[in-house]
Amino acid sequence: MQPLNVLVRDVLVADAPEVARLLTSLGYEWPADKIAARISQFLAGGERALVATQASGSSPEHLLGLLSLHVTPVLHRAGPVGRLTTLVVDESVRGQGVGRALVTAAEHIFAASGCVLIEVTSNKRRADAHAFYERLGYVGTSLRFAKTIAPGPR
Ligand SMILES: CC(C)(COP(=O)(O)OP(=O)(O)OC[C@H]1O[C@@H](n2cnc3c(N)ncnc32)[C@H](O)[C@@H]1OP(=O)(O)O)[C@@H](O)C(=O)NCCC(=O)NCCS
Repeated sequence: MQPLNVLVRDVLVADAPEVARLLTSLGYEWPADKIAARISQFLAGGERALVATQASGSSPEHLLGLLSLHVTPVLHRAGPVGRLTTLVVDESVRGQGVGRALVTAAEHIFAASGCVLIEVTSNKRRADAHAFYERLGYVGTSLRFAKTIAPGPR
């Protein structure tokens, strides 16, 4: 399929309904007001999330994809580790370069932050995503051990 002409920009609080829509397609259903509050917190804390829109021919508010990222300082490497924390592309435009555009933009941010490694966790059942990451040069090296906990008082 022909690649789409994609613009990547930082997320805005006003994107909340579209972000909520994309997260729902990833299996995380949250109301837009909760997502708006999270985006506000995210931005206030210096965290970043990127969104993709179509460069022309579509409403600039309509999001094609979402990627959130985090720069993790570590002691055991020469520089921080960049982590892709969410990535989803609208089902209707998958396979047209949107995911690649978002990851490439994140890679530039990580490089500018001095990161020496980029990592991403992907559920074992997401075989398509694994093929995508491998295509972009990512190598499956680790197992993830996860445990849910009850949040304590802040
Ligand atoms: C995985 C996902 C983000 C990929 O985004 P996308 O926009 O469809 O991918 P792109 O079109 O940018 O593809 C980039 C490259 O990966 C390849 N690729 C993408 N999906 C692939 C697949 N399932 N199998 C093999 N290669 C694949 C493309 O062919 C392309 O290669 P090329 O640029 O050399 O032609 C998207 O399919 C998605 O949102 N999936 C559901 C949610 C998900 O799994 N998110 C990841 C959670 S960890």
